[in-house]
Amino acid sequence: MELPFAESWKIKMVEPMRRSSLKERQEWLAQAHYNVFQLKAEQVYIDLLTDSGTGAMSDRQWAELMLGDESYAGATSFYKFEAMVKKIFGMKYVIPTHQGRAAENVLFSYLVREGNVIPGNAHFDTTKGHIESRKAKAIDVTCDDAKDTQKEVPFKGNVSLEKLEKVLIENKGNVPFMVLTVTNNTVGGQPVSMKNIKETCALCHKYGVPVVMDSARFAENAYFIKTREEGYADKTIKEIALEMYTDVDAMTMSAKKDGIVNMGGFIGTNNKEWYEGAKLFCIPFEGYVTYGGMNGRDLNALAQGLDENTEFDMLQTRIHQVQYLANLLDEYGIPYQRPAGGHAIFVDADKVLPEIPKEEFPAQTLTCELYLEAGIRACEIGYMLADRDPVTRENRFGGLDLLRLAIPRRVYTDNHMKVIAAALKNVYDRRESITRGVAIEWEAPLMRHFTVQLKRL
Ligand code: F0G
Repeated sequence: MELPFAESWKIKMVEPMRRSSLKERQEWLAQAHYNVFQLKAEQVYIDLLTDSGTGAMSDRQWAELMLGDESYAGATSFYKFEAMVKKIFGMKYVIPTHQGRAAENVLFSYLVREGNVIPGNAHFDTTKGHIESRKAKAIDVTCDDAKDTQKEVPFKGNVSLEKLEKVLIENKGNVPFMVLTVTNNTVGGQPVSMKNIKETCALCHKYGVPVVMDSARFAENAYFIKTREEGYADKTIKEIALEMYTDVDAMTMSAKKDGIVNMGGFIGTNNKEWYEGAKLFCIPFEGYVTYGGMNGRDLNALAQGLDENTEFDMLQTRIHQVQYLANLLDEYGIPYQRPAGGHAIFVDADKVLPEIPKEEFPAQTLTCELYLEAGIRACEIGYMLADRDPVTRENRFGGLDLLRLAIPRRVYTDNHMKVIAAALKNVYDRRESITRGVAIEWEAPLMRHFTVQLKRL
C-alpha cells in the first residue's frame, strides 16, 4: 500500500482554542460593527484573517532567539541575517525594517514623487496606500485570466505584458519602477511564472524602468514554478528563488509570511544608489541600518525561517494543506478562485451571494456569515478593501469580490480544514436566505477596511 502524505514536521507545543455559542458571536459581531478586524482574538475559534505573522516558528527558530545579539550597531544577528538574504536572493545590499509596509515606506520615500505612475500586478493595499498617499498612481497590469475565478490556468498572477507596455509607453519618463508581486496576493495567492518574471523585467528594462519585487510569498511562488513550470522540476527551491531575482533591481519583503516570523521585513537591492538613498529614510523611520525596527533575536529567527522555508518538504506540506481545503470545497460545490492559491483559498462571494448587490458588499457579508456560523474569522479581499478612487471618491467595484481564507503556516491541522469547509458548506446551503448585505456607517479616508463600521441590512 502506498503511504499517505503527511506533514514534514511534528508538534512540540500546543495552544488551546475556544469555541463559542451563536448567541455570543451575534453579540460580539454587532459590537465589532460587522467588521471582523474589530473582534477580539479570543472571540475567534479558527483565525484565518491572515497568514501574516501568524505562523508557528520551529524549534530551531526559537533556539535562534536565545542567540540574538542586541548590540545597537553592527550586531552579529544583522550579519547572520544579511548573509542569508544574500544567499537566497543574491541581493548585494540589505536594509532590515519592522515589516513589509515599512520596507515600502522607506524605499518609496526615496523613489516616489507626486504624479508618478507605478504599474504592478495587483499592488497589495499597503503598497497602493504608500503610492497613493504620495499622490502617485498605481495601475494594475495583471493578466485578464485572473478575473475569471473559474478559469484553471497555472500562473494566474502573471503580468500582462501588453498592459504593462502600454503604461510604460504612455508614461515615459514618469515611471520610477514597476512592482512585481509574487505570489499575487490580491487575485488569490496566484503565482507568477519564471518566464513571466523574466519577460516583465526585460520589458521594463527596455524602457529604462527598474523592477521592485514585492516578495512576501516568494517561496510559495518558487514552489509553484517547480511543480508547474516546464524545466524546473529538478531544481531546488533555493535555486529557483535565486533565479527569480536575477533580473530584478530591488525587493521589498514582508518576512511575516514566507520568513515565518511574527514580525519583520527588509529591503534588498543591487543598486548602490538606491541603497544609499533608502538608508537615509531607514534611520528616522525604522532605526539604525543594522537593526531597522527589529530585535537582534528576531533577525536571527528570520534568517533561520528563510532557510527552512526554502526547502521543498516545508512548502509541500503547506501547499498540500491549502489544496486539501480546496478539494473539500470542490466536493461541496463552493466556487473559489481556481486553482487553489499558495497561502489561501479565495471564495468567490459574487457567485455565492448573487442576490446581494455590489453596493451591499457581498464578500463582507459572507465574512459575517462565516463568523456567525462557526466562529471562523476570514477576511474580505473585495470591494471594501478596494476602497474609493482617490480622485472621484467613488467605490472601486471593478475587481473581484472575494472572501479570503488565509491559512497560517504550521498552525492548524487538516481536521481544522474539515471544520472550515463544513462551516462554509452550511452557509452555502442557506445562501438563498441571505438576501441583504451591509452598509457603511463610518469609514476612514484611507485603508478603510481595518476600521470601517458597518450595519447589517
Ligand atoms: N505585500 C504583500 C503582497 C502583502 O500581502 C503584504 C501584507 C504586504 C506587502 C505588507 O506587509 O503586513 O508586513 O506590512 N499582507 C498581509 C495580508 C497583511 O494579510 O495579506 P506587512
